Amino acid sequence: MNFELKTLGWAGSASEQCDAMVALVGDGFKPGKDALSQLAAQAIKAEDLPTKAGKCLSAYRPAGLACTRLVLAGAADLSAKSVRQAVAAAVASIKDGAAKHLLLVFQDAPAKGAVRAAVMAAAEASYVYTTTQSKPHARKLQRVTIAVAAAAPVKAEFERAQAAVVGIELAKEWANRPSNHATPTLLAQAAQALAKLPKIKCEVLGPAQVKKLGMGSFMAVSQGSEEPLRFIVLRYENAPKAQAPVVLVGKGITFDTGGISLKPAPEMDEMKYDMSGAASVLGVFRALGQLQPAINVIGLIPACENMPDGRAIKPGDVVTSMSGQTIEILNTDAEGRLVLCDALTYAERFKPRAVIDIATLTGACMIALGGVRSGMFSSDDALAASLLAAGDAALDPCWRMPLDEEYAEGLKTHFADVANVAGRAGGAITAAKFLQRFAAKFSWAHLDIAGTAWKGGAAKGATGRPVGLLLDYLLGAVQADGRTAKRAPK
Ligand code: BES
Ligand code: MN
Ligand code: ZN
Repeated sequence: MNFELKTLGWAGSASEQCDAMVALVGDGFKPGKDALSQLAAQAIKAEDLPTKAGKCLSAYRPAGLACTRLVLAGAADLSAKSVRQAVAAAVASIKDGAAKHLLLVFQDAPAKGAVRAAVMAAAEASYVYTTTQSKPHARKLQRVTIAVAAAAPVKAEFERAQAAVVGIELAKEWANRPSNHATPTLLAQAAQALAKLPKIKCEVLGPAQVKKLGMGSFMAVSQGSEEPLRFIVLRYENAPKAQAPVVLVGKGITFDTGGISLKPAPEMDEMKYDMSGAASVLGVFRALGQLQPAINVIGLIPACENMPDGRAIKPGDVVTSMSGQTIEILNTDAEGRLVLCDALTYAERFKPRAVIDIATLTGACMIALGGVRSGMFSSDDALAASLLAAGDAALDPCWRMPLDEEYAEGLKTHFADVANVAGRAGGAITAAKFLQRFAAKFSWAHLDIAGTAWKGGAAKGATGRPVGLLLDYLLGAVQADGRTAKRAPK
């Protein structure tokens, strides 16, 4: 999808040729003298256009306007959130038609974040997955022009939003692909393809190298699968070496059957999304490659399948992680933490300023927070505050969850340093407590995206979250999290 930003008021927009025009109409709408304003004013007066966000009024070849289709879209207070709702509804109403070029018109100076919300909502509402269809229903909408009274003040925001869209769509693409089209090997190739972008390098480790590193926990998960594991290391380096990087660690379970602790059949297909954390890391790198900010970011992806097999790990097996800690695997379905813990240990070598892992880790987090906010856990208040703010600004919100030491009680065992599961109670938190044991050497946060990475039901598909949150954090909040850009002491 192509986006462009144009300085064009409502009067100018009325005479602009386009397949479809979406005009955002806020609560306190004040009509100008132009034809478009007059139409909107009449509709409001006749109570045919509620300005509530998400309400639309459509017309075909409206007299006096150059567009083929017109959608007057109620946008309430014109805040970022309302604009998102308005654009989502308006684009949904035209996306099955023939419109290829959309003109999206703001009347006054847009509120902070409103242009970004418009760009992202237009992309979201018109997105279609096509990769594994023989006759793809291609996306009809090809071009979106955002018309504002003055383009210059919102140019930076617009460019960020464009990059976020490209990143989110890459994340969606990989998360949506079924597991036979998104194996660890293919995921690694997708990462390697990103190294064509400026400032990005990619290194892929296979089973022999991972064994040499001593990643016994990661290897244990993969040993029941015919697909060889991959450990992906992405680097985006566009700041002096002295500037410590942020490390992103994405859970890359390309399919989670549960292993010997096999999952029930209903909805098991959704476990193709169990590499959504990994997909979000790819998405962030794609966006960084486009935006070229002056920062250093490392991406780590432990990728493998979790399968039942004659060679698979069995409940009660004890493995030794890269950190040296031994782990009793009481439930082979709690595999995410087993691959992440070794990646966290690997992250130490970068002397990072912060490490953020992103994982579809627990069904319990989905129960706790649903699909609205991702679960966020952090041992560092400043980092937690930055992530919370980044999520709210990006309309990709998270919510901080606790890490009291008492929650780790259930992970105790007689047979190893730690067990990989505790009881059912507080399952998202005990999973985070497990990870925390491997994140003692740096400032760390964990995002449990089990509820937010994809949608079920009629709108089934990946959401591309939390690419938006992570990008906002990396681009802005990194400076605000209370630390200077120095490497942590050795
Ligand atoms: N990938 C799942 C988590 C998951 C489940 C995400 C459902 C989204 C929807 C993870 O590997 C898992 O199986 N977790 C177990 C942990 C349990 C065995 C302690 C879970 O949540 O049931
Ligand atoms: Mn599992
Ligand atoms: Zn899993």
